[in-house]
Parts: sequence; C-alpha cells; structure tokens
Amino acid sequence: MSYSFKYLKYKLLTENAFKYRSNSPFINKLIADFFLDKSTYPEYSLVENIREELSHSKKEIIVNDLGVGSVKMKSKQRKIRDIIRYSVKSRKYAQLLFRIVHYFKPASVIELGTSVGITASYLALGNWQAQLYTIEGCSETANIAGKIFSSLNIVNVKLYTGSFEEQLPAVLKTIPAADFIFFDGNHRKTPTLEYFEQCLEKITEQSIFVFDDIHCSSEMEQAWFEISNNAKVTLSIDIFAMGIIFFNRSLKKQVVRVNF
Ligand SMILES: C[S@@+](CC[C@H](N)C(=O)[O-])C[C@H]1O[C@@H](n2cnc3c(N)ncnc32)[C@H](O)[C@@H]1O
Repeated sequence: MSYSFKYLKYKLLTENAFKYRSNSPFINKLIADFFLDKSTYPEYSLVENIREELSHSKKEIIVNDLGVGSVKMKSKQRKIRDIIRYSVKSRKYAQLLFRIVHYFKPASVIELGTSVGITASYLALGNWQAQLYTIEGCSETANIAGKIFSSLNIVNVKLYTGSFEEQLPAVLKTIPAADFIFFDGNHRKTPTLEYFEQCLEKITEQSIFVFDDIHCSSEMEQAWFEISNNAKVTLSIDIFAMGIIFFNRSLKKQVVRVNF
C-alpha cells in the first residue's frame, strides 16, 4: 500500500483528536494539553524565524547520511533549503514535541538525528532545566545545527557528531535515566529496534519515547508493531507521522490511534 493511500486511510478512518474520548483520564489529558493546545509559546517564533531564514538558503553542503537516506534528495550535495523542506519535522510536529517536553519536564532528552537543529532547538527550549543530547552523523549538517544553537543562546544542549551506533551508548552511559527520546534517523527496522533495545536499559516508569515516521515503510511499520508490543511498553499512541510510547505501569497496555 502506498504511503499516500495509508495516510488517506488514516485521515478518513481515525477518530479526530477533537472528538476523541477515552476511558483513560491520562489519554484525555494528553489530547487536551498537547494535541489540542493552540497557545502560542514565545519560543515558537524564535525557532520558526530560523526555519524561515534557512528555507531560502541556497547554500550547499555535502551530506554524509549514515541512515536510510532521503527519498526526495538523492544527491550528497544538498541545498540547506531542501534539507529544511524534506528532512526536518514540520512546525506542527516539532511544536507537539516542544509541548510534551515543556509539560513533562524530563531531565534528560535525547534526539537521534539532529539534522540542522530545528527540532533540537524546540526540545532544548521546551525545558531549560533539561539536558539535551542530540546526535548527528554528518559533520557539515551538525556544524549548521551548532551555529543555530549559538544564535538562539541555547546552552542546555550537547551535540554529538558521529554515528548513533557509536554515540548512543556513550550518551546513555552519561545519564542516570532515559527520560525522553526522539528517534528520528535511520528509519529501518533492525537499527530502530537496536537503538530501542539499548535505550530500554535506561527507562523509568516516567520515560517517554517518540518514534518518527512509523508508517513510512513496511520495515518501520514492523518496527513500530514490535515496539508497541514490547512487554515493557504500556500505552502507545499512533498519530501516523509519529508513535509515542509510555512505560508507566498504571496505564493500560493499548495502542491508540488519534487523527492529529
Ligand atoms: C530526518 S533527519 C533529522 C531531523 C531533525 N530531527 C529535525 O526534525 O530537525 C535524520 C538525520 O539523522 C542522521 N542520521 C541518520 N542515520 C544516522 C546514523 N546511523 N548515525 C548518525 N546520524 C544518522 C542524518 O544524517 C539526518 O541528518
């Protein structure tokens, strides 16, 4: 089934967040506080101004993508504006992540796949008290992210340049618990499950993991199926573009689909 067809089916057949009602007060609160929160946080415009500026940049860099690569960008030589357009989370999803971090206040936040640092900036600004660890395999891309963090005066970020395979174990060693993780790179089944397994070693009941692009391929759908069925995972929320999982034992084990 093509991606557009799957998306259409999701949009037509999944209950809209506005109408969604669950027996779980936790899920209802999540939907009200994150999905439907239309407040304009001042941090939004800080990041969106940078996105807007970069979305016009014709500057080219040589990208060394250690993951599955891009469907839209085949050449290693890429314009920054194309990276912004095709690789970076849109405002809608980046701001959802901001709200989750802002509300739950995880002490440690890990992002696998920094790209040029747009979503990372949202994650860092979401909670100044948190430490963000973000990992990017391509050094030219990571350089741009570093400049964006400086221009936004973001100090609660540690940018690791290198492969997830090499850097993730190093990051996990330095933190007592994996409180919030955004998996947004190398969208293939086996590596995704390997990163997930490594991170499971550091979960607590309060941990939240978010997986990007869970329906982008049958491999990622299989990975999502295994992740949401893992015995340690309780609630899984599928919003098509992303999957959000919780480990809190007081939550019923279930997969909920919400049209967001
Ligand atoms: C989709 S982009 C990340 C976008 C970013 N999270 C955002 O929304 O602003 C994925 C990034 O992951 C990096 N990547 C993919 N596989 C990797 C790996 N195995 N090790 C390190 N980086 C990797 C790519 O270079 C790419 O920049």
